[in-house]
Amino acid sequence: MVLTGLGWAIVLFFVGSYLITESWTWGYRGKWTNINNYLPRKELVFSEEQLYRYDGSNPNLPIYVAIDGDVYDVTTGAGWYSVGGSYHHFAGKDAARAYVTGCFKEHITHDLRGLTTDQLKGVEHWKKFYQNHRSYFRVGRVLHPPIDDSTPIPEPCESAVGQKPKGKDN
Ligand code: HEM
Repeated sequence: MVLTGLGWAIVLFFVGSYLITESWTWGYRGKWTNINNYLPRKELVFSEEQLYRYDGSNPNLPIYVAIDGDVYDVTTGAGWYSVGGSYHHFAGKDAARAYVTGCFKEHITHDLRGLTTDQLKGVEHWKKFYQNHRSYFRVGRVLHPPIDDSTPIPEPCESAVGQKPKGKDN
């Protein structure tokens, strides 16, 4: 009886949504409607060198971006990430710093040392962007060699902050 009631509630949820919004999920498209997140897959572990291969320059390979260690398949966004795309510089690597500094040449690194609290929140924002995307999905992690404390923190750059990166669209 309870199950029957629950069954009807589920049917009503989807049918009601379709009748009202012409979408089965009340217009929601994100992590929970992304079929890739339900497929069982083995966590992949990449070295930085291995990850470079997935930068969109080989059309037979998927395109991966990494942010703060997590690697996402962004092949459905090839227009952005393959060669000539506005965000190609993010493909095949972990450029977490550049996401929040806008230094798309100088800060292609996972090194987050010296960033402000707001910038670190920005990194979290972009991590959530990939995590919750309607078609991108997490495939694993990239292993970074530890950053030696004696390595200087990347200098702020003058270029590109707040600028749309140059690509095939501009
Ligand atoms: C720090 C600066 C910026 C970063 C890190 C950044 C990064 C990104 C990323 C990762 C995407 C998602 C691409 C995807 O769908 O996978 C995106 C989308 C986009 N960006 Fe930027 N971007 C920056 C600045 C800008 C600026 C200044 C403009 C405009 C002048 C711009 C215009 C766009 C547009 C139009 C989209 C597509 C939005 C959509 O699909 O709804 N971006 N950006």
